[in-house]
Amino acid sequence: MVRSLFLPCFTNISRSHLLPNVNDTTFLYRDQSDRAALYCEDVSLDELASQYGTPLYVYSKAQILSNFRTFSETIKRTGSRNYVSYAIKANSNFEILKLLAAEGAGASVVSGGELRSALKAGFDPAKITFDGPGKTDEEIQLALQSNIVAIDVESLQELHVINDLAKAAGLKAGICIRVNPHIDAKSHPYISTGLLENKFGIAIDDAAEVFRIARSLENISIVGLHSHIGSQITELSPFIEAAESIVEFVTKLRVDDSITLQHINFGGGQAIDYHHVVSHPLLDGAETFAEPVPSFQQIADSIFPILSKTGCSINFEPGRAIVANSGALLTKVLYTKSNGDKHFVIVDAGMSDLIRPSLYHAYHEIVPLTITANRGKRTADIEGPICETGDFLAHDRLMPVVDRGEKLAVLSTGAYGYVLASNYNMRPRAAEILVSGSSHRIIRQRERLEDIIG
Ligand SMILES: Cc1ncc(COP(=O)(O)O)c(C=O)c1O
Repeated sequence: MVRSLFLPCFTNISRSHLLPNVNDTTFLYRDQSDRAALYCEDVSLDELASQYGTPLYVYSKAQILSNFRTFSETIKRTGSRNYVSYAIKANSNFEILKLLAAEGAGASVVSGGELRSALKAGFDPAKITFDGPGKTDEEIQLALQSNIVAIDVESLQELHVINDLAKAAGLKAGICIRVNPHIDAKSHPYISTGLLENKFGIAIDDAAEVFRIARSLENISIVGLHSHIGSQITELSPFIEAAESIVEFVTKLRVDDSITLQHINFGGGQAIDYHHVVSHPLLDGAETFAEPVPSFQQIADSIFPILSKTGCSINFEPGRAIVANSGALLTKVLYTKSNGDKHFVIVDAGMSDLIRPSLYHAYHEIVPLTITANRGKRTADIEGPICETGDFLAHDRLMPVVDRGEKLAVLSTGAYGYVLASNYNMRPRAAEILVSGSSHRIIRQRERLEDIIG
C-alpha cells in the first residue's frame, strides 16, 4: 500500500493500539506550516476538488489493490482451487473493474449490465457467477451464451426456467443453488439476506429437494452451493454458524442423495470499520467509539477448517471490503444556519449522491479537507441540498466548525456510493476520479444537465 511521504499526526495514544482491526487507509492528513491538509495517496484533495468541482468521488488505486491482495493472498494459502470474486454491485466503475480483472479476481454479478461489464473488463467467465432473485429470461440467456461458471438459482421456478432456456439454446447451464440458512447476520435489516423472512435463496430445509430436481433436469449441471447471509457483518459468529450449517447440509446431501457438490460460494459480507478512518490531533474529541471488525484472516481461520471438510473448492465474493475504504466523496459547504438549538451545515452532496445515511442510517466519517488550529468544534447536522427531510449525511455530529465555501470529505464511500446515486431533483451525478501515487485521472465524467433533461 502506498503511504504518504509525511507521517500523519496521530493522537497521543497510537490508533493501532486502540483499534487492532482499524482499516488501512490511504487518506491521511499532512501537516503544513499552519494547517493540515487531507491527501489521497500523494494528491491533495483540496486541489482535486478545485480542479474537478464538487460533489466528487475520489478513489485510491493503491487501496483497492491492497484490499484485494489481502483477500487473494489469504485465500491462496487455503488451497489452490479457492479464489476471491469481486461483487461488482459495490462499485461498478469500469476502470475499477479492469483493475480487479487484471488481478485475476472472479466476478459476482447481479444483472445483465453487470455481466456485460464484467466480460468487457476482462473477468474470466470461468470465475463469473450470476446472483439475484429476479433474473429476466434475457439475462439468463446472456449468462448461458457467456459460458459463465454458474447461475445462482434462487427458487425452484427459476431452476425450471433456466433448464427450459438452456434446452432451447442447446446448452447445459452450470448452476449453484443459493441456500438460505436462516442465520442472523446481525447487520442492518436492509442488508441482511440469510433469514427466511428475506427474499433470497431457498430455505435450507427445502434445498435438498431442489438439488434432487436439478439432478434430474437434462440441461442443468450442478456446480455447487451458494450462500450469502448479509453485508457489513461485524461479528465472526454468523460466518461460523453459516459454515457449520452448510457443511451439515452438504454432507447430508452426499450421504442421503448421493449428490456430491464440487464448489461452495460462501458469499461476501465482510465488514469494514467506518469509524476512525483518519485522525489528527485537531480532530480530537470528534470521535469516541470504535467498531472493531474481524479481519479476513480471522474469518478464514475460523471457517476454512469447517468448510474444508466438504472437499469442495471455495470462493468468497466481497464487495464492500474491497472498495469501501478506497473512496471519499468530496463536498462543499453551501450554507450554515441554526434553527433553535439545532445547527445545520448544508452541503452540495446529498442523498442523490450518497444514499447510505438516508437508507440505512449508515455512519460515514466526515472531515474538513483542511484543518487549522483553534477553530473549535460544534455539533451539527450535515444535510444535503435536496428537498427531503431524509436527505442528510450525518446527524448530531461533533466536528470542527466549518463555514460557507469549505470543503469536506465523506469517507469510506467507495462501496455502495456512486452505484446508488440518482438524478433525484434533476441533479447530475458526480464525477469519479482515480488517484495513483501523485497522479489522478477522470474515470467517469460528471453528468451534464443536458444528459438528464433529454
Ligand atoms: C449475493 C451477494 N454476494 C456478495 C455481495 C457483496 O456483499 P458485501 O459488499 O457486503 O461484501 C452481495 C451484496 O449484497 C450479494 O448480494
